[in-house]
Amino acid sequence: MTAPIEDIDKIVVTEATIRKRLTELGEEINLAYEGREVAVIAIINGAIIFVADLIRQISIPIQLDCIRVSSYRDETSPVQAPEIIDRIRLDLAGADVLLIDDILDTGNTLARVSEIIKEMGPASLKTCVLLDKHTKRSVEFEADFVGFKIPDEFVVGYGLDFAERYRQLPLIGILKPELQNPPEWA
Ligand code: IMP
Ligand code: MG
Repeated sequence: MTAPIEDIDKIVVTEATIRKRLTELGEEINLAYEGREVAVIAIINGAIIFVADLIRQISIPIQLDCIRVSSYRDETSPVQAPEIIDRIRLDLAGADVLLIDDILDTGNTLARVSEIIKEMGPASLKTCVLLDKHTKRSVEFEADFVGFKIPDEFVVGYGLDFAERYRQLPLIGILKPELQNPPEWA
């Protein structure tokens, strides 16, 4: 078994660049919600690393909850509609909600989870993503806070996975082509 970092072909966003952008995003969020409390909803597993680091750059009060959604099996393209595996438990009625995901790709996940949250009667709903792949939307969706716009390539690291692997990498990168669909994971 090789170390996960050795499987990366090309770095798309470095660790230092992520750290710097997170400070800026934290400031943007502090400003947008000044004087209010925010209910942060993380879409897991993908957003766990991003949310863990981002909320420590947020100085306004927050409540945190997660929704567990799956839209990928062990492949590099969506094979099913987003499936809600574990629901939100926090009462979002009248809350200012900030929904956070790792990446906005086709838009299906954020569109679906936004619908669910709106049914819970929040006072407001904004969305935040670390990465935005702008080229592949199948539903119209734009995030309010975006870390980085990236080209339409399958990336891993900093919470993003391939078959639940590579989430621990501190950077965002593209896997070596021969590793993107290994036969043993098919
Ligand atoms: P969407 O529903 O197509 O917008 O995709 C959102 C979800 O797909 C994210 O929460 C990720 O889990 C996954 N995803 C999309 N693109 C990538 C990628 O390049 N690498 C890893 N996961 C991805
Ligand atoms: Mg995933």
